[in-house]
Amino acid sequence: MGLRLNGKVQQSHRMVVFVVIFILMTLLFLYGSNNSSSEAYIPIHVAVNRFLINTDLKKWAGKEGYMPLHRNKSMKLHCHKCALVTSSSHVLGSGAGEEIDHTECVIRMNDAPTSGYEVDVGTRTTLRVVAHSSVFRVVRRPSDFLNSTDKNSVMIFWGPPNKIGKEAKGPLYRLIQRVSATYSNMSFYTINQTKMHRFDTLFHRETGRDRQKSHSWLSTGWFTMVIAIETCDSIKVYGMVPPSHCGKKHVSKKMPYHYYKPRGPDECLTYLQSESGRRGNYHRFITEKQVFGRWAKLYNITFTHPSW
Ligand SMILES: *[C@@H]1O[C@H](CO)[C@@H](O)[C@H](O)[C@H]1NC(C)=O
Ligand SMILES: *[C@@H]1O[C@H](CO)[C@@H](O)[C@H](O)[C@H]1NC(C)=O
Ligand SMILES: *[C@@H]1O[C@H](CO)[C@@H](O)[C@H](O)[C@H]1NC(C)=O
Ligand SMILES: *[C@@H]1O[C@H](CO)[C@@H](O)[C@H](O)[C@H]1NC(C)=O
Ligand SMILES: *[C@@H]1O[C@H](CO)[C@@H](O)[C@H](O)[C@H]1NC(C)=O
Repeated sequence: MGLRLNGKVQQSHRMVVFVVIFILMTLLFLYGSNNSSSEAYIPIHVAVNRFLINTDLKKWAGKEGYMPLHRNKSMKLHCHKCALVTSSSHVLGSGAGEEIDHTECVIRMNDAPTSGYEVDVGTRTTLRVVAHSSVFRVVRRPSDFLNSTDKNSVMIFWGPPNKIGKEAKGPLYRLIQRVSATYSNMSFYTINQTKMHRFDTLFHRETGRDRQKSHSWLSTGWFTMVIAIETCDSIKVYGMVPPSHCGKKHVSKKMPYHYYKPRGPDECLTYLQSESGRRGNYHRFITEKQVFGRWAKLYNITFTHPSW
């Protein structure tokens, strides 16, 4: 009996020590993050109240930052109507493939495939915007991504200038160069350093936050939306949820982040975790969608599956 009591006393003693350590750690963490020189990440509903500079994207636009990889052709793609097909699993079951294929220009991202998903996402690709981190996945499957039957099909690569920049002449740049010489029916471009910087500035102006200081990466979605606005008179976006979607309580059904990775991460979980991430670099998917929502009113953009 005495032994058991002793054990309990020891246990609660250990408990107290544990709690004290926990409180100390929490204080230390809070102090540390307050003291951090970097700009804390402030959610957009706070940021919009600040002074934001609205950029007229149609004037901001300029195709001159797109550097051709092969031959000497400048990026001249222009479309009256575009279908921007996102990689979200919200496109599954939409049956929108035929409608998408009947649109003048079809825009896709990274290594989002069409084969196997034709009924929902269509078959054509006019423009594909590819992140440096997706280059290998695209190049590995040329019949899916590089052999476009669309006339004047365009592929734009974005990434840090030291990886895909012409001046850097790195292995990634040389790979893209070889590919562009092989698939000469398509036009390949990289976004040059000046233009990359302008994308950052645009993020700063539209969100009130410095991208680097707020530990953010721009997503391929950000680049694609801006390029689409530069290129298209009107845009129909397939499969993008509104910015408030993931905050809603009734959202419990898991939806894969990518339609072609059914066992991949959950979309809302990915969005919410990235939005609040502080240490490291994160895509601000929700903040970006808030901006897209504002742009929609200015640049003839509509959203479908879901509609908003
Ligand atoms: C990017 O392209 C634009 C337009 O051609 C040019 O003015 C600018 O100097 C280029 N930037 C770099 C870093 O090459
Ligand atoms: C590339 O094209 C531009 C205009 O289209 C021309 O001024 C320039 O001389 C060309 N450069 C080369 C190397 O062919
Ligand atoms: C590209 O398409 C052409 C014609 O559709 C076909 O003959 C060729 O085998 C394809 N190449 C690759 C690498 O898939
Ligand atoms: C390029 O386009 C032409 C005409 O549209 C076609 O005959 C040819 O097979 C295409 N080449 C490749 C490599 O797809
Ligand atoms: C918006 O899109 C519609 C349909 O494509 C087009 O007819 C209209 O001219 C566009 N409006 C503007 C302001 O670009």
